[in-house]
Amino acid sequence: MQANNLNWEVQAEFREYLSAVNPEMPKIDVQVFPNTLYGEGATRLIPFDLSDSLKTVYPATTPNLYAGYLRIKATEELTTNFVAASQMFFVIKGSGSTKMDSGMIAWNTGDLITFPAIESAHHQASEDSILFWVNDAPLLKYLGVIPNEKRFEPVLYTQERITQELKKVRALYEGKNPNRIGVLLSNPHFPTTMTLTQTLWSLYNILPKGIVQNPHRHNSIAIDHCVSAGPGSDTYTMIGKDIDEDGHIINPIKAVWSPGSTFITPPGWWHSHHNESNQDAIVLPIQDAGLIMNMQVLDFKMIR
Ligand SMILES: [Fe+2]
Repeated sequence: MQANNLNWEVQAEFREYLSAVNPEMPKIDVQVFPNTLYGEGATRLIPFDLSDSLKTVYPATTPNLYAGYLRIKATEELTTNFVAASQMFFVIKGSGSTKMDSGMIAWNTGDLITFPAIESAHHQASEDSILFWVNDAPLLKYLGVIPNEKRFEPVLYTQERITQELKKVRALYEGKNPNRIGVLLSNPHFPTTMTLTQTLWSLYNILPKGIVQNPHRHNSIAIDHCVSAGPGSDTYTMIGKDIDEDGHIINPIKAVWSPGSTFITPPGWWHSHHNESNQDAIVLPIQDAGLIMNMQVLDFKMIR
């Protein structure tokens, strides 16, 4: 056989360094996915597909993560078959069970479940149920790989346990005003990053009434789900690219915490949490920080 080198050279590209070393990447904006997306209608998957703005040929919410809601009507079922190495499901409301090849998990409002790479998950609702889900399918699509190893076992973090752990942390800071009162949901398979999975990171963060949590930033992208908050627009996150010399966010965008809704905090942007209502609020950010932290490029910074 003779080598046909002309063919192999067709795709050899060369670009001048200064004009190509820092290309303009697809813009990642603050985006809101309101609870009205799942208010009514048939049992279905409701993905947050931003592939147009991310310029991907596959569905994606962020470069690494795919997220959305699941609406499953009472007694009905829905199968998800994400090609992902890590999956997270949070029960916004309802109850039911999920069957996969390694067994079945029963879930209720406020529970959070993680799955490793599995072929499919059959979700069945015993009452009208809404789930919020995030997985790392876009990362695998970007790499062009299908996982062939489960890096961890499915895990159930019940609402009861999460609340207990949050109470313990709250007691720890009684009478003080720390910049964060939250619990990181973690997995024993990832002791170095202490994250939810090898790619996903998750915080169950309480924002007590009347409290401001000062600006912080990180290179991971957050898909922030609001678990609970007072009515109106008095509980919110301010998000902006830069801070001034006094640590205030310049020209921030306001993302209101509306229970059951979700918003994106872009990578590297500063954000502060504000609760001007008379009710404690809870936010559940899911980030790609497992991956970013493992690469040691999280670059977390906080204004104290
Ligand atoms: Fe954050």
